[in-house]
Amino acid sequence: MVYLTRVEHFNAAHKLYNNEWTAQQNKEVFGKCANENWHGHNYELHVTVKGNPNPNTGFVYNAKVLGDIIKNVIVEKIDHLNLNLDVDFMTGKLTSAENLAIGIWNELQPHITTEGVQLHCVKLIETRNIYVEYYGA
Ligand code: NI
Repeated sequence: MVYLTRVEHFNAAHKLYNNEWTAQQNKEVFGKCANENWHGHNYELHVTVKGNPNPNTGFVYNAKVLGDIIKNVIVEKIDHLNLNLDVDFMTGKLTSAENLAIGIWNELQPHITTEGVQLHCVKLIETRNIYVEYYGA
């Protein structure tokens, strides 16, 4: 089994805010991320698939095709947009890195259809100090 990772980037705005809490509670839990007028991140997205190399190509998966899927399915939908307002698969969710990684996984998985190849990990780097990894469960 070989693990292949493709890296893509996007920029997006968001805020972390629980509408069921007071402004003070939001400030205590989310700090600057609860700022009313949004803030942004330069996200780095690592998508890993796993499988055995195809004898005809030597590839687990065509890395350019994987990049095209990520760009078409994810980056086009969220780059330079507002995660809270503009992204259909984040509607009604807190736009944490955790929830965004799960949303990205759910969007990508139906597009990884090659027999013997599985989506393995969505790693989302939000800042130089914080990243999350989701393995589908
Ligand atoms: Ni943030």
